[in-house]
Amino acid sequence: MLNPVIVFLISSASLTIPSVSLNKCNVPISSLRTYDVPLFFHAGAKISEKSFVKARGGRMIFRDKENVKVVCPIGKTNVNTVTKRIQCLNSKFVDDGQYKDLKDIKCQNSRSPVPITKVVGHCKNAFLTVSVGFQIDDVFLNRIESCYDNNTRLPLYTKSILDKSVSTCPTGRTGWYSTGTFRIMLPENIEDIYTIERQRQTVNQLLGLPLNDQSFIGDGHMYFARGHLTPKCDFTYPSEQRLTHNYFNAAPQWQQFNAGNWKVLEARIKDFVTKSTTFDYIVVYTGTYGITKFNNIDIYLYNGQNIHAVPVPQYFWKIIYEPISKKATVFVINNNPKRIKTQAICTSFCDTLGWLMKAAFQPRNIMKGITFCCAYTELISIIPNLPDIKVLGSLL
Ligand SMILES: *[C@@H]1O[C@H](CO)[C@@H](O)[C@H](O)[C@H]1NC(C)=O
Repeated sequence: MLNPVIVFLISSASLTIPSVSLNKCNVPISSLRTYDVPLFFHAGAKISEKSFVKARGGRMIFRDKENVKVVCPIGKTNVNTVTKRIQCLNSKFVDDGQYKDLKDIKCQNSRSPVPITKVVGHCKNAFLTVSVGFQIDDVFLNRIESCYDNNTRLPLYTKSILDKSVSTCPTGRTGWYSTGTFRIMLPENIEDIYTIERQRQTVNQLLGLPLNDQSFIGDGHMYFARGHLTPKCDFTYPSEQRLTHNYFNAAPQWQQFNAGNWKVLEARIKDFVTKSTTFDYIVVYTGTYGITKFNNIDIYLYNGQNIHAVPVPQYFWKIIYEPISKKATVFVINNNPKRIKTQAICTSFCDTLGWLMKAAFQPRNIMKGITFCCAYTELISIIPNLPDIKVLGSLL
């Protein structure tokens, strides 16, 4: 195999480009956009987090002659997942004797790899740890871990890994997982309680207002969205992005804030990680705290005869944690649109975070959601349900 070395002469300085194998497979993740893209694993090792093909800098790289496992989980345990092998050869992939592009390797019948959830233990003493991921034969590939309150039917927080993969996040809308192992135990389907019409009725019933009153849940942005805790765009594969649409990873978030500072925060954190020269990935915890009050009354999205469930959190928070240096920073956003004067929840230092303060991030703008940047050590005395992690300083 020839490894051509290309030399450019620029002014009098010569610049040598490292030799590259022209035969390896170099696939931009932006070419893998549809939900029926399988999960790819380097075939030299067992199926694991380590052999899962990631897209550092937005590209998947395979060596020439490397074998690749193609996996389409079907959302069941104890069933062999349909798996085949393809080979990277001369920059293309050989599948069943034919040369193909990776984007043309698909799951059967245009199906997306199907995720499942399972309860794997406990968190914060009494709450359930629910893992969301893909079952691949006897290996479970965990993508999101949710610390879930089975009484309120709301996650306390989720945990996920954010690495340097740059994903092209599809903007198309897809349904939410709410059946099978994704089912939330409520007397009715959780999908229905999030509709704007139902929110209006539920809130007005709690407040003793006419059911169609629009002073709280109105038109435009005046409603609670199914706010993702772990963001969709923190994942690489379309099927991973899709699995974020589940109720172990969601809580009612005021739409204006969801589309305001929270959205900018998610994008800036992703950018911060992608551009870092000191670490390869961070652990992200995203959670909820407190109950929003309207007219001094606690707001729930489910108000049944015997249970109040799915409380509207007063705050959303997000910890970014770099596990090697053990540095962390916590962002807290107010989620009560009626509390115009939000007291500072911590000694906020957003102004010192150059990577965050640019663009549209406006932490003092009440229309976009008042946001604070806090030290973990200060905030854990105020929000006791933060995960217990060892923190040695702020991640700046
Ligand atoms: C969660 O709560 C529901 C309803 O109270 C109950 O039926 C179910 O057994 C609980 N699940 C777990 C894993 O504790």
